[in-house]
Amino acid sequence: MSDRHRPAPAAVPIHELISHRWSPRAFESRPVEPAKLRTLFEAARWAASSYNAQPWYFIVATKGDSENFRRVLDCFVEFNQNWAKNAPVVALSVAGHKMTHDGSRNRHAFHDVGQAAATLALQATALGIQVHQMAGILPDKAREIFGIPPDYEAVAGFAIGYPGDPLTLPEGRLRDSEMGPRQRKPVSSFVFTGKWGQTSPIAAN
Ligand SMILES: Cc1cc2nc3c(=O)[nH]c(=O)nc-3n(C[C@H](O)[C@H](O)[C@H](O)COP(=O)(O)O)c2cc1C
Repeated sequence: MSDRHRPAPAAVPIHELISHRWSPRAFESRPVEPAKLRTLFEAARWAASSYNAQPWYFIVATKGDSENFRRVLDCFVEFNQNWAKNAPVVALSVAGHKMTHDGSRNRHAFHDVGQAAATLALQATALGIQVHQMAGILPDKAREIFGIPPDYEAVAGFAIGYPGDPLTLPEGRLRDSEMGPRQRKPVSSFVFTGKWGQTSPIAAN
């Protein structure tokens, strides 16, 4: 687990691997050990997927590989570049849109890439590392820079590292959100039974 805890105030007890995962924007400068990085992608490998198609791909770069680090960072929107540039590892996830068994469209490709990302993030938490996922990327730029083929699409960006001191972030929204309370909708607002919008008794409190 990380030194810098920011546990979720869960309404009922959940596993600490889940409550201790969070998305920092401040990272320590120390590199992530290559063996740990390897473990993250092994964890992603074992995610479930529709037809076991495993439609996930990752393009990863460590700060030590400055050229490729810059190329991945260039695929993030400016807001994300501003803080993600300080992470020791950056990455992009890519989805394969075609099923391997019959070439049909894989309707669950993004879902399964998300599952792999979540699995990777939980494995990271177990190692004291945190992963900040990003929708704010430039998929067309990623296609151009990395030669992503037509049936594949960049899904999300990732900043990976040991969480750092929030005071290294500029004052204002970034720093405040790093230190503020963690918030979620109540379970009652999204677990239904019988018909849409009718809260299940399981989720009543
Ligand atoms: C698919 C996805 C896209 C996200 N996009 C961004 C982003 O572009 N920039 C950013 O700063 N955070 C981004 N986040 C982080 C979320 O804001 C964060 O997960 C959410 O506020 C909940 O906080 P937590 O992960 O610390 O629990 C993204 C997270 C996910 C899963």
